[in-house]
Amino acid sequence: MTRILGIETSCDETAAAVIDDRGGKTEILSNVVFSQIADHAAFGGVVPEIAARAHVEALDGVIKAALDEAGVTLTEIDAIAATAGPGLIGGLIVGLTTAKAIAAASGKPLVPVNHLEGHALTARLTDGIEFPYLLLLVSGGHTQIVHVEGVGRYQRWASTIDDALGEAFDKTAKLLGLPYPGGPSVEKAAAGGNPKRFAFPRPLKGEARPDFSFSGLKTAVRREASALAPLGEDDIADICASFQQAVTETLSDRVKRSLERFRETHPDIETPALVVAGGVAANQAIRTALDTLCDKTGFRLIAPPIRLCGDNAAMIAWAGLERLKAELGEDDALGFAPRPRW
Ligand code: KG4
Ligand code: ZN
Repeated sequence: MTRILGIETSCDETAAAVIDDRGGKTEILSNVVFSQIADHAAFGGVVPEIAARAHVEALDGVIKAALDEAGVTLTEIDAIAATAGPGLIGGLIVGLTTAKAIAAASGKPLVPVNHLEGHALTARLTDGIEFPYLLLLVSGGHTQIVHVEGVGRYQRWASTIDDALGEAFDKTAKLLGLPYPGGPSVEKAAAGGNPKRFAFPRPLKGEARPDFSFSGLKTAVRREASALAPLGEDDIADICASFQQAVTETLSDRVKRSLERFRETHPDIETPALVVAGGVAANQAIRTALDTLCDKTGFRLIAPPIRLCGDNAAMIAWAGLERLKAELGEDDALGFAPRPRW
């Protein structure tokens, strides 16, 4: 039996979780996420300095809550996994240093985890899927397609050449005066809008290269919004619906390129898996578009539950466990420096 304490502090969520591995079957005993959204809302985005301070204040309590909820004490933990990057340096220092202190005091092993690896491996915890598979990671900081071949074996096949998709949602919301975080606000407003009223661009659609681009979309929204100002509620709903329509069309077109490449790379796999992860995966219109795409191309869409799609520490604990099992732990974990870019 192996119990892992996971710690995640790379952005604006202070999170801790305990997972328990019993002979290959892993259970999430606790998964505590303390969101700093309220602290950042007034600024329309994450303020690094505020985030770092908030992690310092919250982390001890969040770890205690995760242990309590799991019904275990620190001595009953077998290893600690903490996000070591990429992310905001202040938060990374807080989380990784706390993890090092716990590891040093208890003599338990520490596994520094790449945040993206956490997102990449989550579907193996929730759905038990086998390697290889394709991962679409869509969050506030990342938009990429990764060919996941094994633990520690990742190839980036596509990424955004400008804004991340979550960032495009957040910026669009901000310029329409909708509350932060923008994704859920835009999705909600779009529900009552007309997706055909504005013909926003579909960046890179139809191009052979597999990458993404979203900044032109945001610029088009800005132009439309200023031409119409002052905006009525209907205008905002229509802009959001048209924006989301453009996003789902572009996204499907771009993802399709990589699905084709996966087919060519693995002709022997009958029904390959496309895993979607990251906060934007909460968007229902995007899930539906990906579902349709997978139906058409013979892939199966794996979308982990929303609380495991966004940032959380269970995914970090799980990635730590996968690394330990694959004997890919760090020899000098206590000397491992946080990596804001990784
Ligand atoms: O993965 P995540 O929790 O944090 C990181 O960025 O790592 O993702 C947060 C992002 C934000 O940009 C937020 O606006 C977006 O995910 N998001 C959404 C939705 N819910 C969250 N975007 C579109 N539709 C949603 N329903
Ligand atoms: Zn993330």
